[in-house]
Amino acid sequence: MPINNRIADFHDEITEWRREIHQHPGLLYDVEETAALVSQKLKEFGVDEIVEGIGRTGVVAVIKGQKSDSGRVVGMRADMDALPIIEKRDLPYKSKYDGKMHACGHDGHTAMLLGAAKYLAETRNFDGTAVVIFQPAEEGGAGGKAMCDDGMMKRFGVQEVYGLHNMPGLPVGEFSIRPGPIMAGTDEFTITVNGKGAHAAMPHMGNDPIIIATQMVQALQSIVSRNVDPLSSAVLTVTAIHSGKAYNVIPQEAQFYGTVRTLDGEVRDLVMARMKTVVENIAAAYDAEVKIEIKEGYPVTSNHAEQTDFAAKVAKDVVGDSRVNVEQLPVMGGEDFSYMLEERPGAFIFMGNGDTAGLHHEEYDFNDEAIPVGTSYWAKIIETAMPAS
Ligand code: NI
Repeated sequence: MPINNRIADFHDEITEWRREIHQHPGLLYDVEETAALVSQKLKEFGVDEIVEGIGRTGVVAVIKGQKSDSGRVVGMRADMDALPIIEKRDLPYKSKYDGKMHACGHDGHTAMLLGAAKYLAETRNFDGTAVVIFQPAEEGGAGGKAMCDDGMMKRFGVQEVYGLHNMPGLPVGEFSIRPGPIMAGTDEFTITVNGKGAHAAMPHMGNDPIIIATQMVQALQSIVSRNVDPLSSAVLTVTAIHSGKAYNVIPQEAQFYGTVRTLDGEVRDLVMARMKTVVENIAAAYDAEVKIEIKEGYPVTSNHAEQTDFAAKVAKDVVGDSRVNVEQLPVMGGEDFSYMLEERPGAFIFMGNGDTAGLHHEEYDFNDEAIPVGTSYWAKIIETAMPAS
């Protein structure tokens, strides 16, 4: 099948939902409006079970196939949250909430999975059970983890789980995937240098924490360039430096923070260990104290081999062999679908969003032309994994 005909019929309707969601964005767990729309639609479709409030504001629904006693249960996940960005474009369906915007296309992800739920509830052309998962707080709030911690996988008997993200720059009607790590693990660090302040004209009376902190920032750059194997991947980015308030005072303290992205645990441990050695020794050299705080972020999103092959096969059935890249390079962004992949085998795939602004950009918009592609992919995942006997 290329695009499923029945799903092509839903294109306008799904586009309407997408734009409705786009107009009412919510941040992190505050996705009540979107979750309510999702629940209401699922009710209209006549799915077999809807459970709200999983992972605080997440919604899960169950759609039973012709033989739901086949024992097979496959999960599909979409994210619902938006970003704290002021939308730049004057779209007819522009965000109604100032400073909040669907700049990552989660509005599209939610609408497409809803479309697939409508199709599956109507046709039931499969055996087994489809579980549709709508999660909050993908953008840094670990909503996926919250749903897993609420026992979602066990409660609904999910055996395999699939995720999808749109990708600007990849043409509409194309998919891209790889087995193994596809998105990075993320860690956040905060480094605080406690020095000794002084009069700006008498630097010898103190030890300037600004000089110490900036040397640390420079030296940390050597970890990726000189400690990590050039054939491995790591990012260490300092995103903020804060210190001082006056022209004539050397402050007491300097603080900087940033993010580390890696694709495997060994590289992560190396970066963390080197970071500690570098900053502690620079602090010691200047007789200052330093505190390092690490906040562990999302784990590496690592695709399981068998499910990746399966997802690629389904994608090829939808758009044709030549339009599915199975050698996608890993992306150093993070993704909390990683928590679901730690609990169950599954695969995360990228879908083309065409020539649009990039993710998290103020001019980004999900491409509605991609709706039949993503929705057909979801429907086909279920109909192929659990074919009607
Ligand atoms: Ni996203």
